[in-house]
Amino acid sequence: MQIPTHLAIIMDGNGRWAEQRRLPRILGHRKGVESVQSIVDECMKLGIRYLTLYAFSSENWGRPQEEVEALMGLLGSFLKKELSQLQKRGIRLMAIGELDRLPETISKILKDIVKETADNDRMVLNLALSYGSRNELTRAMQTLGREIASGKLHPDALTEADIGAALDTHAIPDPDLLIRTSGEMRISNFLLWQMAYSELYFTEALWPDFSRDQLLQAIQEYSRRQRRFGLTGAQLRDSNIRDGEGRH
Ligand code: FPP
Repeated sequence: MQIPTHLAIIMDGNGRWAEQRRLPRILGHRKGVESVQSIVDECMKLGIRYLTLYAFSSENWGRPQEEVEALMGLLGSFLKKELSQLQKRGIRLMAIGELDRLPETISKILKDIVKETADNDRMVLNLALSYGSRNELTRAMQTLGREIASGKLHPDALTEADIGAALDTHAIPDPDLLIRTSGEMRISNFLLWQMAYSELYFTEALWPDFSRDQLLQAIQEYSRRQRRFGLTGAQLRDSNIRDGEGRH
């Protein structure tokens, strides 16, 4: 089985999971945290190197205050509880997004854990928090604009690599596979630049029901796909023969 180096997940459907059971939405999010824990664990076992989870979008700030506060509370307790697990398993925590919008207590715990796990090298768990791709791109343009204005960078010399380097994800390869749960078939402002060639996988399962088996099914489907990066199938076969090894 071909294992993606970088798996990104839009964890959708917590609210519906709770509503279907006539429970408050926050219980769906709480159940969603359990899925996070089991999926992180399974990804480690599978040898996935980078796992990015869309935990809170720029747009999620617009939800009822009660839900935003409850989500922040869950995030804080997840982070506090998880530090020892991350250390034990050799997982490095990273975060992308407008992190200075997070409540100070959360951003402090986050910064501490990012620092404390910086030398772990078995897997990167990357949390997208207060993240929106257009916001990330706008901030990157502002950085590059300042470099151009100061004369450090000539506009004609600007490359795709410069743009990639100005994004929050500069230290992380592009996702190979995106999974979105809950049957919605949208990208919802997630990693727009980085997903130019990612394989997309949509499942009806709501995030609290997304199991290790369903993760395996997604990866099996990914293994069967042929990624051509804009080339023809014949070109890829030729280059595989020349390289003497399979490409993905
Ligand atoms: C989408 O479900 C999910 C979210 C907005 C938040 C995801 C958060 C978690 C899984 C818990 C916290 C995360 C971590 C990493 C501790 P939805 O509420 O949009 O569901 P709906 O579309 O059914 O309403």
